[in-house]
Amino acid sequence: MSGDDAGLERLRGRIAEARLGAALEETGTILALADGLAEVGGLQGAELNEIVIFVTGARGFVLTLEEDRLHAAFLDPPDGVEAGSSVARSGHIASVPVGEALLGRVLDPLGRPLDEAPAPGCTETLPAERPAPAIIERDFVSEPLETGLLVVDALFAVGRGQRELIIGERQTGKTSIAVDAIINQATSGVICIYVAIGQRMSAVRRVIEAVRSRGRMERTIFVVAEATAAPGLRWLAPFAATSMAEWFRDKGQHVLIVYDDLTKHAETHREIALLSRQPPGREAYPGDIFYLHARLLERAARMSAARGGGSLTALPIAEIEAGNLSAYIPTNLISISDGQLVTSQGLFAANQRPAVDIGLSVSRVGGKAQWGAMKAVAGRLRLDYAQYLEMKMFSRFGGMGDAALKTRMARGERIAELLAQPRFAPLAVLTQIALLAALNEGLLDAADPARLPALKAALPPLIAAEPRLAALRAAPSALDDATRAVLLDVARSALGR
Ligand SMILES: Nc1ncnc2c1ncn2[C@@H]1O[C@H](COP(=O)(O)OP(=O)(O)OP(=O)(O)O)[C@@H](O)[C@H]1O
Ligand SMILES: [Mg+2]
Repeated sequence: MSGDDAGLERLRGRIAEARLGAALEETGTILALADGLAEVGGLQGAELNEIVIFVTGARGFVLTLEEDRLHAAFLDPPDGVEAGSSVARSGHIASVPVGEALLGRVLDPLGRPLDEAPAPGCTETLPAERPAPAIIERDFVSEPLETGLLVVDALFAVGRGQRELIIGERQTGKTSIAVDAIINQATSGVICIYVAIGQRMSAVRRVIEAVRSRGRMERTIFVVAEATAAPGLRWLAPFAATSMAEWFRDKGQHVLIVYDDLTKHAETHREIALLSRQPPGREAYPGDIFYLHARLLERAARMSAARGGGSLTALPIAEIEAGNLSAYIPTNLISISDGQLVTSQGLFAANQRPAVDIGLSVSRVGGKAQWGAMKAVAGRLRLDYAQYLEMKMFSRFGGMGDAALKTRMARGERIAELLAQPRFAPLAVLTQIALLAALNEGLLDAADPARLPALKAALPPLIAAEPRLAALRAAPSALDDATRAVLLDVARSALGR
């Protein structure tokens, strides 16, 4: 061996060592383990949201970074991982598969199948956390997202690209409102994503079954992180699902996403924050809880024509206790949404379902997106109904002789009956418009309220068959007197008069 060769060998040895040194920085050691969270020492180079790999092959992702340590949440069962064992960087940010192949599937937040079918064959991925579209990439919310629920479409219309919170106490029909909205997209072409966060699997299965049997499963994606899923998965679920939705949004499609629910997501965030010893703030939530949900819901948007004109409409769901809308998480969510549908235990118990409280609910942008013809017939509805509810309260205290009052009470009873809807019975927008036109004209005042469900059922075929309604069927953007008269004719024949 010549002197040159020996020098080369030494150099090779040093290069190999240098590589080894760099590789060492890419692994760390578990300092402590608690409830799906690992405290890891070392791993200096790791980034926020980066995937790390434990000795068993289980994955986690980085949630907090400190100077000499980090916290990673497990995305797989932590079995076999122990304090003292090593953790490796992956160099990849938590990301999800995206593409058409997700449609019709039930998946976990990382896109792994939960429906016993093979993994969806996606060729693209997107990071789970992505920045919201900038103002110049957006357009005004101008088209309605029809829910098929008269109380929503007539009084609190939701626009494509809007964020409308569904909030109320336990078991007041919150999920049902969102599921009805999903089922109503069977004919609209809107892609739906239902995200279950911390729900019981039995409840999730009921939602999937409802969509499978009444909606269009092949246009729907279920992203499920049930109550027993690793906290990291529950935390990631809404972000990951939003990236799946954005892939379609950015291709010019319209997407509806339901987060069921963000109260449980907030609890997961708090659980992780307390375990990772972040300073607790109000109600023990960490200080960034507002920002967490704000940056999630900001991703709902109506895109400008230059960006494809697609939209992402968000229906986050939140639970309140004892009617307390002004609790911490509810007020946060209300302030980062464009309105809220408040469900009421009282109405629900009185069988007024969907139990949407007219006084507390609001849609701050949907009115601009409401169909012109709907606006023309729904104008007085809210006021008339509110007055009826008030009169009903007072009428308990004594007889009501006044004939005018009786008429208004009769009208109010019909409104209540129109606003009530069983589950899975969406009303097409023209049916809703015909019903409200008939109500305004007084056609329903003489009808027995018990006959109104039959009227709702009789209208659609008559509307579909009426040649004079062709223009309205194409786009209910306005209602002239002649068309209104045709609608009233149709309503009369549906009533059998
Ligand atoms: N419009 C409706 N008509 C009749 N029954 C309804 C209606 N909406 C909901 N329900 C019934 O009320 C029950 C509760 O509904 P749902 O699960 O939607 O409420 P929730 O507020 O989401 O409950 P939770 O707080 O448990 O999530 C269900 O059994 C459902 O079938
Ligand atoms: Mg629910």
